[in-house]
Amino acid sequence: MLMNGFASLGDNFHKKAIVSSITTKFLNELAEVEAVAKNPKVAYVVPFLKKIPDVYDLFDSRLSAIFNGYFLSDKWRIADITAWRNYYWSAPTSEDVNSDLWHNDESRVDTLKLFIILSNGVTKDNGATQIISIQNTKKAMPLGYFSRYKILKPARKFLENTDLINFMTGNNGGSFIFNPQVCLHAAGRVQSGSIRDVLCVTVTSCNKSRNLIENFQSLSIEQEKLVADGKSITYR
Ligand SMILES: [Fe+2]
Repeated sequence: MLMNGFASLGDNFHKKAIVSSITTKFLNELAEVEAVAKNPKVAYVVPFLKKIPDVYDLFDSRLSAIFNGYFLSDKWRIADITAWRNYYWSAPTSEDVNSDLWHNDESRVDTLKLFIILSNGVTKDNGATQIISIQNTKKAMPLGYFSRYKILKPARKFLENTDLINFMTGNNGGSFIFNPQVCLHAAGRVQSGSIRDVLCVTVTSCNKSRNLIENFQSLSIEQEKLVADGKSITYR
């Protein structure tokens, strides 16, 4: 399923009632953030698990089976769960929002990210995350891809070929899974007056099977500590 490093789970993989409940709570929490944020580029709901624990219900046997299949065992853990809203912003090379530049995430290579769209109308031209396959990522590297800040012309030209790009388009509930280390990807830009909301679950392999409830409890404590220590941003 993840031979290319990414896959679409379609619009109906997750139970509608769960996505709907998460969306409603996300929008309520976001309204509080937006009340204080001045022209944000991105806004997060933190600590996510404390505010929206419903996300636990997404982890049914079908979703677990995908992770079991990818990691070839049930030795994986949920490293993070968060959700954010992307807004329109005018400076394409702004230093503090650079996920729109082609990049790999700087973390473990045995990582998967699950994206679930929480808004509607995410299109090629409006907020869709862009991703290229592991095979095309391997082709881009020798053409002169060094980092998001240093991409030589041949590699840049290669990455501009929209035929190679998979766009994470869709509406509320649309779901995608990908390895952000082995696939180059870039955040899509949101059109003026529009937004894109997404829930992101990060899963990595680990050396023992995890009890889901304990995993959620420890992650929740971790998230609350980050907020208490001022290390978790609400918007920027
Ligand atoms: Fe990324």
